[in-house]
Amino acid sequence: MSSEQFDLIVIGGGPAGYIAAIRGAQLGFKVACIEKRGALGGTCLNVGCIPSKALLESSKLFSEVKNHGAAHGVKVSKVEVDLPAMMAQKSTAVEGLTQGIEGLFKKNKITYIKGHGEIVDVHAVKVGKDVYRTKNILIATGSDVMPLPGVAIDEKRIVSSTGALTLDKVPEHLVVVGGGVIGLELGSVWKRLGAKVTVVEFLDRIIPGADGEVAKQFQKTLEKQGFNFKLGTKVTGAETKGKTVKLTLEPAAGGEKEKLEGDVVLVAIGRKPYTEGLGLEKVGITTDNRGRIPINGNFQTVVPTIFAIGDVVEGPMLAHKAEEEGVAAVEWMAGQSIHVDHNTVPSVIYTWPEVASVGKTEEQLKQAGVEYKVGKFPFLANSRARAIGQAEGFAKILADAKTDRILGVHILGPDAGTLIAEAVITMEFGGSSEDIARTCHAHPTLNEALKEAALAVDKRTLNL
Ligand code: FAD
Ligand code: NAI
Repeated sequence: MSSEQFDLIVIGGGPAGYIAAIRGAQLGFKVACIEKRGALGGTCLNVGCIPSKALLESSKLFSEVKNHGAAHGVKVSKVEVDLPAMMAQKSTAVEGLTQGIEGLFKKNKITYIKGHGEIVDVHAVKVGKDVYRTKNILIATGSDVMPLPGVAIDEKRIVSSTGALTLDKVPEHLVVVGGGVIGLELGSVWKRLGAKVTVVEFLDRIIPGADGEVAKQFQKTLEKQGFNFKLGTKVTGAETKGKTVKLTLEPAAGGEKEKLEGDVVLVAIGRKPYTEGLGLEKVGITTDNRGRIPINGNFQTVVPTIFAIGDVVEGPMLAHKAEEEGVAAVEWMAGQSIHVDHNTVPSVIYTWPEVASVGKTEEQLKQAGVEYKVGKFPFLANSRARAIGQAEGFAKILADAKTDRILGVHILGPDAGTLIAEAVITMEFGGSSEDIARTCHAHPTLNEALKEAALAVDKRTLNL
């Protein structure tokens, strides 16, 4: 038994946990953070956001030089992929960032405990043979890959996102199961580097949950880039023979089976909350039907001294959502009032063009019977987008028909992930489309598309 007594023990050193630990230390708590993977930063830094964005950037650079350089008057005679160098740049970024968090822990005097944390009572967590006592416990154990029955992941031929980030050669034919965020981001990486990519999606559309109009246009854009889609199709089996994997496909609505062969299969059908070996049963916490830990508005579980945040609880499985919850949960423990609004958590798909959105989609507003106005502006009419030769997509604002308050913003276009921040801030302030329309935007910028979309809500665009 360790004699150390903490105010807060955080289990999991991902974006939810490490941010909570830092905020806790800032608030004067004596904090420990337990992490079992041997590095801080969680899924996001080690096998998620950061390595995927590194490979997206490297592959984009390759594709730009190869396919678009000439149009800009930049001729390069031979452009080649050096995959080991690309992977090395990714690893350098990951290692630098994860070590950076260790530095932040030292700076904030947070005790970093390496190992698997198991809750043994409402005030104690066990790591190996040591038991650490604490006033509060914060669960931030994140999520794991959702398995697909009949398609066993071996991380070589049949990979999860983790394996798809470390392939040692460009696949000839990458079959992606799941037309969601991971499938389209990592599909883009390998497509750009030369693979044929086929996406098999169960539903009759890609990126479910996103605005339907954006999803449709996005699919067309990806098809132009060479993606193949098999929608309304499920994968029911896989057989690996030598260097190929033969998948069995079936129409989602039932019907005749078909076969599809690829040399690498990426299973990306979602992620599930991770609570294995956490000892929840010892303290009477049960997970819901999707494996999530139920919490109240203050991130408190049924046990008042045990809290939970991030991918392991309800809401979008996003790093920035996890971080917001980390800060809020700890501030509540310190007696502060808190507020995290999932409606203003933006989501971004880092393909090219990017897809970014915040708030409600048209489908959600229709379903809720909310009357709304739509303002839309194409990047084709945005001078910066034309100047840089990247004029695909549009910005779309959904505003309340009576009050003009912004209800949702959806962007498909260059750097959409950066552009969405303006919409998020406006929504956080309860702003209207008129607010964006009356705000001076620098020229020539991509942001002007958002201003024009806001003007379009009242049918007064200036450049269309
Ligand atoms: P995690 O990051 O999963 O961290 C949980 C940590 O807890 C893990 O390190 C785990 O080892 C540890 N742990 C679990 N159980 C225990 C235990 N009992 N004891 C000790 N340690 C334990 N989100 C974005 O916002 N933007 C992106 O661009 C993005 N890209 C992604 C790309 C990929 C390929 C993937 C897979 C995910 C991506 N995500 C992205 C999602 C993002 O990674 C997650 O939403 C985020 O990491 C969740 O943070 P978390 O702290 O809740 O959980
Ligand atoms: P996802 O939920 O985005 O997409 C999964 C897709 O698989 C859906 O379209 C779903 O309809 C489909 N599907 C489900 N079962 C299927 C089956 N049996 N056969 C075929 N298709 C099937 O999940 P994904 O892409 O795995 O990502 C997991 C999480 O990681 C996401 O929820 C996201 O929040 C996070 N993430 C975020 C990123 C970002 O913010 N840029 C990047 C990558 C991941």
